[in-house]
Amino acid sequence: MFQRLPEAAAGATVAFTLDGQPVTARAGDTVAAAVFALGRDACRQTAVTGAERGPYCMMGVCFDCLMTIDGIGNRQACLVRIAPGMAVETQHGKRVVGQ
Ligand code: FES
Repeated sequence: MFQRLPEAAAGATVAFTLDGQPVTARAGDTVAAAVFALGRDACRQTAVTGAERGPYCMMGVCFDCLMTIDGIGNRQACLVRIAPGMAVETQHGKRVVGQ
């Protein structure tokens, strides 16, 4: 669905995990951009129906990009810059209290 412009594809990479799988992103990307670049379009599943939701606004307004990042749920993936070693997980339902 999304594809980088060729001139934007080069550059340093950052290693992180997505749902436990080792992957890489371009340094400077947000978590949402990294997820899109990996070919995924869903970040979470809703609490009521389990329907998949993915980043929409990419600017912190819609809250459809909520993910669990480094063990903390309800993080807006479009506002968090990817970092080396980060553990990013699909959020299933609502955030678990204490995360
Ligand atoms: S994509 Fe809308 S808040 Fe993150």
